[in-house]
Amino acid sequence: MSEYGGDGGALDEDLRVPACERCPALVESRSRIVDGVGPTDADLLFVGEGPGATEDEEGEPFVGRSGDVLDEALRDAGLARADVRITNCVRCRPPDNRDPTTEELVNCRGHLESEIDRLDPELIVTLGKVPSEHLLDRSVAITGESGDVVDARLAGASRRVLLSVHPAATLYDRSQRDGFFETIGRAAELSGVGDRGEGGGDGQSRLGEF
Ligand code: URA
Repeated sequence: MSEYGGDGGALDEDLRVPACERCPALVESRSRIVDGVGPTDADLLFVGEGPGATEDEEGEPFVGRSGDVLDEALRDAGLARADVRITNCVRCRPPDNRDPTTEELVNCRGHLESEIDRLDPELIVTLGKVPSEHLLDRSVAITGESGDVVDARLAGASRRVLLSVHPAATLYDRSQRDGFFETIGRAAELSGVGDRGEGGGDGQSRLGEF
């Protein structure tokens, strides 16, 4: 049994989380479990906090306003959404958009560890303070540390982790937008995924369009 309260491998072949009732508040607030999306052998894994209202409705991570920003940044970095895997620390929508509790994060950790183990990605990008602190197991001043690359022991191996602000931060504070886009560009370069990673791309930034 893993230290994260489970079998750690409680995912089927498609990395789908089976019916889970570990977190009573989340069982109450969710419409569905929102699994990660993208190739199960992706070299680049994005980890968010947890589904919001739109994700809960549609059953896919980052499909609301934050997802729009993430999609723009991916395109700007020469990446398609289909090139990467996108997942969350918790798979069920917390009530009233609150942060997941420590207990909820721990309850869901086995699913994330299994996903990391299965993908064995070149790079993990943490989107926001909650996933950064959860995966690094320390407090993180995300605005200052965004863009930093650190090593963390995850799913039984040392993994390269790139810290990022959450895409929603760019909606509250427009001054964070360029930095967020740069960090996603860095993710493409470091992971070797997409045009930039392969040394291609037209070198044109689309930042000025928005
Ligand atoms: N915010 C997250 O952290 N995850 C999502 O899936 C959507 C918004």
